[in-house]
Amino acid sequence: MIIPMCLRFLVLLCAFLSAISAYQNLHTERISGSAGDVLEDDPVGRLKVYVYELPSKYNKKLLQKEPRCLTHMFAAEIFMHRFLLSSPVRTLNPEEADWFYTPIYATCDLTPNGLPLPFKSPRMMRSAIQLISSNWPYWNRTEGADHFFVVPHDFGACFHYQEEKAIERGILPLLKRATLVQTFGQRNHVCLNDGSITIPPYAPPQKMQAHLIPQGTPRSIFVYFRGLFYDVNNDPEGGYYARGARAAVWENFKDNPLFDISTEHPTTYYEDMQRAIFCLCPLGWAPWSPRLVEAVVFGCIPVIIADDIVLPFADAIPWEEIGVFVAEEDVPNLDTILTSLPTEVILRKQRLLANPSMKRAMMFPQPAQPGDAFHQILNGLARKLPHHSSIYLKPGQKLLNWTAGSVGDLKPW
Ligand SMILES: *[C@@H]1O[C@H](CO)[C@@H](O)[C@H](O)[C@H]1NC(C)=O
Ligand SMILES: *[C@@H]1O[C@H](CO)[C@@H](O)[C@H](O)[C@H]1NC(C)=O
Repeated sequence: MIIPMCLRFLVLLCAFLSAISAYQNLHTERISGSAGDVLEDDPVGRLKVYVYELPSKYNKKLLQKEPRCLTHMFAAEIFMHRFLLSSPVRTLNPEEADWFYTPIYATCDLTPNGLPLPFKSPRMMRSAIQLISSNWPYWNRTEGADHFFVVPHDFGACFHYQEEKAIERGILPLLKRATLVQTFGQRNHVCLNDGSITIPPYAPPQKMQAHLIPQGTPRSIFVYFRGLFYDVNNDPEGGYYARGARAAVWENFKDNPLFDISTEHPTTYYEDMQRAIFCLCPLGWAPWSPRLVEAVVFGCIPVIIADDIVLPFADAIPWEEIGVFVAEEDVPNLDTILTSLPTEVILRKQRLLANPSMKRAMMFPQPAQPGDAFHQILNGLARKLPHHSSIYLKPGQKLLNWTAGSVGDLKPW
């Protein structure tokens, strides 16, 4: 009984899939409204950035010791530094700068397995801020309100990969007034300052490019996901990791023929995403993951399962229109939610995803290209100008507390 029903369903699905494949490459839809236009903005001439010169122990030396930092998902901090050094928005005259940038590779401390550790970052940050505040007059003028920092770790400047611990720590006190450029984004969360810029994680552009398959290849996979469902090492009892959402995906859909989901990471991972209609992007330890970037680049509709997530460049990318948002508690209904989306809606999302400006905004290519993630960061900084006069402190006025925070963070670096 079950088998014939299942077959009938698959036949229907096949008809549906081939209809979609036939349509999807006919046109590239222009993104209407401000969103698409903002993506095309050219930041040159709209802001000037001063790059502090720091001893190489804060950046290049770390990379020399650990070249793997160039390829992990936090590598944006390194590429942003390189980009700014040769960017036309850079000024060598700090007196005319709108923004100050401190090049610190705070996540370039890896375990033997290549996992970035955030534990030294606070001391390193503190040390660098001490240095810029004593060698230049600009930090003290605003206590960092016209400075930006790239902090791409799981929970940004909270510097811990477990949410509870990150919340307990809070944003490093010395960074409270700065603009943080970070991958982490969640509404009403202590690790997200108002006015921060949420960016995509780094995904290797050449590698993704190398795995492109011919446009128009049918999308014969309905739902695709590769990754952990449980993290037994760090969350032995279960429930903390992904707040149970990934476990719910597995428990509910492991035997569903529409769901191509597994923990095994195949060599055809990127190709498979290009053959899928929906790519699940559930939270892990943090709400974000490289899947968001991969889904957009490979034209697979991202199914975002991360309540209250703040998505990369959300003021420029129409995430509501390209993605599907599913509440964490609705994961058991994922099949119904996705199969009841009208074909028209799916086709429209696919056409929007085919727009090259969306893909460009998700990537940090070398060399940089107009409209890429570097340019979107600059656009975000430019949109925050002019600075409000209230950011400038009165002579002698101090707002930050240099001795606040955990005792371990106060040790010299
Ligand atoms: C900035 O203020 C700190 C004290 O908070 C002081 O030690 C430092 O010398 C000041 N920097 C400059 C350049 O005056
Ligand atoms: C700064 O923080 C420390 C540690 O939390 C606290 O003891 C001290 O009173 C604070 N100083 C000010 C001026 O608030």
